[in-house]
Amino acid sequence: MAANTTQNRRVVSGMRPTGPLHLGNYHGALANWIDLQYRYECFFFVADWHALTTDYEDTTALKSNTREVIIDWLGAGLNPDACTIFVQSRIPEHAELHLILSMVTPVAWLERVPTYKDQIEQLKDKDLGTYGFLGYPLLQAADILMYRPEFVPVGEDQVAHVEITREIARRFNNIYGREPDFEARCERAIRRLGSRNAALYADLRHQYQEQGNAEALARARTLIESGARLTVADRERLLGHLEGGGRSILTEPAALLTRSPKVPGLDGRKMSKSYDNTIGLREDPDSVSKKLRAMQTDPARVRRSDPGDPEKCPVWDLHQIYSSETTKSWVQTGCRSAGIGCLECKKPLIDSVVTEIDTIRKRAREFEESPEVVGNIVAEGCERARTAARATMDDVRLAVGLENR
Ligand code: TRP
Ligand code: SF4
Repeated sequence: MAANTTQNRRVVSGMRPTGPLHLGNYHGALANWIDLQYRYECFFFVADWHALTTDYEDTTALKSNTREVIIDWLGAGLNPDACTIFVQSRIPEHAELHLILSMVTPVAWLERVPTYKDQIEQLKDKDLGTYGFLGYPLLQAADILMYRPEFVPVGEDQVAHVEITREIARRFNNIYGREPDFEARCERAIRRLGSRNAALYADLRHQYQEQGNAEALARARTLIESGARLTVADRERLLGHLEGGGRSILTEPAALLTRSPKVPGLDGRKMSKSYDNTIGLREDPDSVSKKLRAMQTDPARVRRSDPGDPEKCPVWDLHQIYSSETTKSWVQTGCRSAGIGCLECKKPLIDSVVTEIDTIRKRAREFEESPEVVGNIVAEGCERARTAARATMDDVRLAVGLENR
């Protein structure tokens, strides 16, 4: 959307503090964040309220998990001078926006989010028939819309949440996006299209609004986009005017699908805390190497002399993340010809993983040893986040017609 070009190309993402991070979290999300922090203005936060939606009964580890996740981030290479690191529950504006958005969000939209019924099915031991759990995606929408980002880097499983965020922003803008002198400003903007295009615009808008002609809509949009004499704000107004809405107060972000490799767990299933098959980001080297030595391989290789197929082996998936071309072709040939044993095959992998984890452990150790440094990083991040959040909430309150502070 046009408004984003005037912003500093922002990115927002969050993680629930469910326990120590593992290699799956690292390659699935964190490595991408570390890359993004130098290319965008990034806001990364611990979604501790989201952890409450499923784990409201036992909150004993919530605070320490939050701290540990932040240490994992810093250890992995998030740089507090390059990005903003904060904790969701310390920015009360998120709760306020969530509340306001709840007024305009149809319950059916939330019930329709695919993760909703899935999770209730999957987590049968928990009672998720709560108001808070139904509102999970809405709270996420508030987290996102608060910072008016261009992108939200997420995995496949979160795309539906970004999609509903866009729908909610659109609905909010349609309801509250009208400026007092909206019509007059639109007329002025239309005149700037030039008389021929202004007449064409009026005709196309009519065709769209009266007859739902989608092609007319698309042509009118192009006309607006190419109106060289329009300001960014004019363009936004006209796009709203065209579809019968108003100006956009909350901007629609796009999901930035994380290009993430498949990270297998020790049993060959996806690495996940709930399968208890993980390797921790700060796990000690002996334990890492012991786990990898015992890791599942191609089940067809019962004996050392049985040839194997890397495509059927989770160890191969790890080689694809960690190993050079030379090592990989050594694995391919050696496995298929039974020229190498599985333990031999795992050796270079163990070295690479241990080296990676070692770097993270070293960097993390400094933060583990100085909680006050971590405290300051978070306090500063929260301050920066709040400044941005306050600005959005001023606009939101004004648009909704609430008293401003
Ligand atoms: N739901 C996300 C997850 O489970 C976490 C999250 C909360 C989030 N708020 C967000 C992610 C805002 C991106 C943007 O991974
Ligand atoms: Fe897997 Fe390597 Fe064993 Fe082949 S040799 S089955 S790729 S561990």
